[in-house]
Amino acid sequence: MAEGSAADGSEGTLQVTDSRTGKSYELPIVDGAIRTLDLRQIKTSDDDFGLMGYDPAFQNTASCRSTITYIDGDKGILRYRGYPIEELADSRSFLEIAYLLLNGELPDGDRLRVWTDEITNHTFIHESIKHFIDGFHHDAHPMGMLVSAVGALSTFYPESKQIRDPEIRHRQIVRLIAKMPTLAAFAYRHAMGLYYAYPDDDLSYAGNFLNMMWRATELKYQPNPILEHALNVLLVLHADHEQNCSTSTMRMVGSSEADPYAALSAACAALYGPLHGGANEQVLRMLQAIGTVDNIPDYIRRVKAGEFRLMGFGHRVYKNFDPRALLIKKVAEQVFEVTGRSPLLDIALEVERIALADDYFISHKLYPNVDFYSGIIYLAMGIPVEMFPVLFAIGRTPGWLAHWEEGLLDPEQRIGRPRQLYGGSEMRHLAK
Ligand code: CMC
Repeated sequence: MAEGSAADGSEGTLQVTDSRTGKSYELPIVDGAIRTLDLRQIKTSDDDFGLMGYDPAFQNTASCRSTITYIDGDKGILRYRGYPIEELADSRSFLEIAYLLLNGELPDGDRLRVWTDEITNHTFIHESIKHFIDGFHHDAHPMGMLVSAVGALSTFYPESKQIRDPEIRHRQIVRLIAKMPTLAAFAYRHAMGLYYAYPDDDLSYAGNFLNMMWRATELKYQPNPILEHALNVLLVLHADHEQNCSTSTMRMVGSSEADPYAALSAACAALYGPLHGGANEQVLRMLQAIGTVDNIPDYIRRVKAGEFRLMGFGHRVYKNFDPRALLIKKVAEQVFEVTGRSPLLDIALEVERIALADDYFISHKLYPNVDFYSGIIYLAMGIPVEMFPVLFAIGRTPGWLAHWEEGLLDPEQRIGRPRQLYGGSEMRHLAK
């Protein structure tokens, strides 16, 4: 609720005069918003449909109420269920964060044990899904494999269609969080032509993912604790980000009451694009294309000329700094102590330095976002570039599911169905 609101959230009214008719209207303001449906009473005649809001890309339209994540883009604030990301990132496991996002509170010791057991009991995937992954060409993008494999899970769990049953919902949530790393690692190993390394339930969520990625001939894989910690932090930082493109997709598909596998597969597809979760992959490709620090000024000149965008810069919501980017930069230093410093880091730091002092980036409020440094860390850890959006998807899964469930339980939610402004032909007839 906005500051200065009454207890019911109401803050007064908006007086509107329609210059076409001279009529005035009073629209209630609640929680800093008017209901665009209230505009429909504003008509020029009885058969007028009524005024609509036009907001392509939803730049100023709240699509739902949510209690999960709070962002203040101007101040660089990100909170999960009220907790600042800076307090959570370093101190909590990804599974604790998943529990927090889904249930509203951090788990106590007993709840965390039960939750962890539930997840570790569902990390294996059906052998047929393995064969399904086998069907992909060796150079298939792992994100394409993930989108398909998550969608295919829907066919293995037909009960998941009963989205109004809380226990069944919970089971699918557990399955999805548990199986995403397995699907992701299997997609990687398929592309590499390696045998599939099965989950090790003794390891942490992040440690098990590293095990499924890297285990070779050893009987027991031991993740490097610093890399395991770094991956945990990265997953936590990606766990939710309110109504972004993929989360809105999750909610939209969920609003048709499709099962959660179908909805999450659609969310992964939305994440795949280079302007969203695919940006971390593009940042790396950009830094590799720049090649040396000397080439940066010319690259920046071409960005400013509108030839292409500086990937990993800019955000729809953050217009000052992205708090996740600051935290990730710290993790990068820890990782490089283990892996050695990547030469791409020097290019990234110089790109950042030049851009932050440049009028174009300052006036457009463009700052490094979460994806600017995450890719450099992943690469240092030995994770191939194509896997970066897949890692984003693993991290975002609890957030997607929390929003999916919140949407289903919201009495105001109906099937998502925006309006359009039609600009096509008037009625015309086929030539006789
Ligand atoms: N490089 C150069 N110019 C940019 C960039 C950029 N990265 N981002 C925005 N601009 C310019 C854009 O050209 C436009 O300029 P003008 O007003 O002069 O025409 C202005 O800034 C506003 O751009 P916009 O596309 O209207 O901004 P948006 O809020 O719709 O887009 C964004 C947000 C993240 C898609 C965009 O900043 C972008 O394309 N960034 C690069 C891709 C990227 O890093 N994406 C990851 C986002 S963070 C992870 C996630 O949550 O997905």
